Amino acid sequence: MPNTLDSSYYETSIYKKGIFDGKVVFVTGGAGTICRVQVEALVLLGANAAILGRRTEATEKAAAEIQQLRPGAKVIGIGGVDVRDVKSLASAVDTTVKQLGKIDFVIAGAAGNFLSHVGGLSARAFKTVIDIDLLGSYNTAKATFDQLRANKGHILFVSATLHYIGLPMQAHASAAKAGVDSLMRTLAVELGPLGIQSNAIAPGPIAGTEGIDRLLPEHLAKRAVELVPLQRLGTTTDIANATVFLLSPAASYVTGTVTVVDGASWQLGEPSTSDPELYPGVISKLNEGDNKL
Ligand code: COA
Repeated sequence: MPNTLDSSYYETSIYKKGIFDGKVVFVTGGAGTICRVQVEALVLLGANAAILGRRTEATEKAAAEIQQLRPGAKVIGIGGVDVRDVKSLASAVDTTVKQLGKIDFVIAGAAGNFLSHVGGLSARAFKTVIDIDLLGSYNTAKATFDQLRANKGHILFVSATLHYIGLPMQAHASAAKAGVDSLMRTLAVELGPLGIQSNAIAPGPIAGTEGIDRLLPEHLAKRAVELVPLQRLGTTTDIANATVFLLSPAASYVTGTVTVVDGASWQLGEPSTSDPELYPGVISKLNEGDNKL
């Protein structure tokens, strides 16, 4: 995937070049669709970055491409990191501090998901998503805690809006993201006295992401847009813009919050549940099948 942003970002956006000069951001899932553009924006505006992922080649390639965005930028890609393993995160923190000097901002963005009704979801499958999304966010906060404390940093969790309603086929991811929001709030309170901010960003339907391309049935694509009050899908740049605001000095008194960037989409529920063939149709049929343990 090539870069989404370029130098026109600071030339034409409301943000000023250099607002993140001297800052270092540490991002899990940084080679993914949404997190990558968050990193691009921060790097264009002056930050250096470490991006982490399980896939070494993809992570290193994305880092090299993002580094091209700004002369003098340093962006390192650390592959082979699984957020389920706190030790692999701790080692990535060491590498980042050795190569980039420190960590000011953390984006806990790594996530895993698939569609399944509860009957088709084994206990292990449920645990897998909880482990990646919730335990992985906790591990990220733990592994970066010393750096956040030393630099009065900011941890930003990439959450979701799934759990605001009872969303079919997403019991696992909804429970995990509800946990992420709760963790974010506790951290805001516990770490506030240390000068550390903790927030979450909750993307809605974003064009070009797996959530839209892979998880949304094709025949619902048009209706999905109509059901966004702002009548368009979001873009990865929308998420990057909100991220820049939250990590910038403009949001220095903002902590313990979830910033929903979804065009008010969740207020109308979920498009798939407005299609009777899917709900209750598909769910009822699935519920007649085997209950996988
Ligand atoms: N429906 C039901 N269960 C599923 C499933 C699906 N579509 N996909 C995986 N599982 C189950 C597996 O069957 C397994 O459970 P079991 O051993 O009881 O059968 C369990 O989940 C673990 O699967 P595994 O593939 O071993 O886990 P993993 O750690 O290698 O990968 C994911 C987990 C979530 C990353 C993987 O499913 C995946 O690659 N998803 C798509 C990519 C993605 O998540 N992108 C991010 C979107 S936000």
